[in-house]
Amino acid sequence: MSNTLIQNTANVKGAVAGVAEEAESVLASVKAYLADLSESGVDELPLTVSPLVSAAERDMLLGPPPDIIDGMAGAETLDMIRLDLGDCRRCQLGNTRTNLVFGVGNPNARLVFVGEGPGRDEDLQGEPFVGEAGKLLTKIIEAMGLTRSDVYICNVVKCRPPQNRDPLPSEIEACSSFMLRQVKAINPSAIVALGKFAAQTLLGVKTPISRLRGAFQDYHGIPLMPTFHPAALLRDPALKRDVWEDMKQVMKKIGMELPAQKTGAAGVEQP
Ligand code: URA
Repeated sequence: MSNTLIQNTANVKGAVAGVAEEAESVLASVKAYLADLSESGVDELPLTVSPLVSAAERDMLLGPPPDIIDGMAGAETLDMIRLDLGDCRRCQLGNTRTNLVFGVGNPNARLVFVGEGPGRDEDLQGEPFVGEAGKLLTKIIEAMGLTRSDVYICNVVKCRPPQNRDPLPSEIEACSSFMLRQVKAINPSAIVALGKFAAQTLLGVKTPISRLRGAFQDYHGIPLMPTFHPAALLRDPALKRDVWEDMKQVMKKIGMELPAQKTGAAGVEQP
């Protein structure tokens, strides 16, 4: 080994030993401080984490918090919200999507359908519920005597999670205020949450969809009916009967007559 290399190795060893010594001394001071506190009767300390961004910076990135949005009902249009989303990169889904899927339909709809997030077809076309599950949702809407352009359709997250995995909590956090703002801009008479993910996320609960469905809940002052996702109906057509029961309750809530036809949601016999 050359003299220079020996000298450099010795310097690094010395520096590492210095850092370790310093860490030991800091640890000893913290221990002594905690022992002092304990002796004087303090047996717990509040844990405060300083936020990495200020409240104003957070609002600029993620939109205003839900209680502020509640007070903004009617103050924003869907176009303003779309403009604010822009070429959104607030979470990593922005890097893998083809299209941001904002929502479609009537900006003054009495009824809003909310799904989980775009799948492959939706990502490619930039429109929610246009794949197989979407076709079934369209049939359900039509069985109610409505068209897709009468209602508004959107998702909790606006960009497709890769391989259709569940959206991560950070992705939901980055996106969900936009959905609430959409709902406040439309101010519908009722919302239908399609499937476990949308229902549990909007209601902030972990209750299974089989127990949530069929009963109205409150979502920021708007009645929300959880029901099965159309994709679940594709896997198990027997669930269509329950969905049709839920849709009948929704129609009643928004003051609609039941359509005079023999079959209900997507070909299910009306009782
Ligand atoms: N599933 C959803 O939850 N949303 C869509 O837009 C399509 C499929």
